[in-house]
Amino acid sequence: MIVCICKRVSDREIRRLVDEGASSLADIRHATELGTQCGKCACEARRIVRELNDN
Ligand code: FES
Repeated sequence: MIVCICKRVSDREIRRLVDEGASSLADIRHATELGTQCGKCACEARRIVRELNDN
């Protein structure tokens, strides 16, 4: 599923980055530019990162 339409970032890509050590939305943003255009994806992306880090 695509989370960030503007930058074409999927939940799978977010999961991969968390597996590699990303622990915050800022880390994901730095690696992918997620959220740097319209910003609408930020809440959902933050939720996914939190959920993955809790597991
Ligand atoms: Fe992510 Fe627009 S959907 S910046």
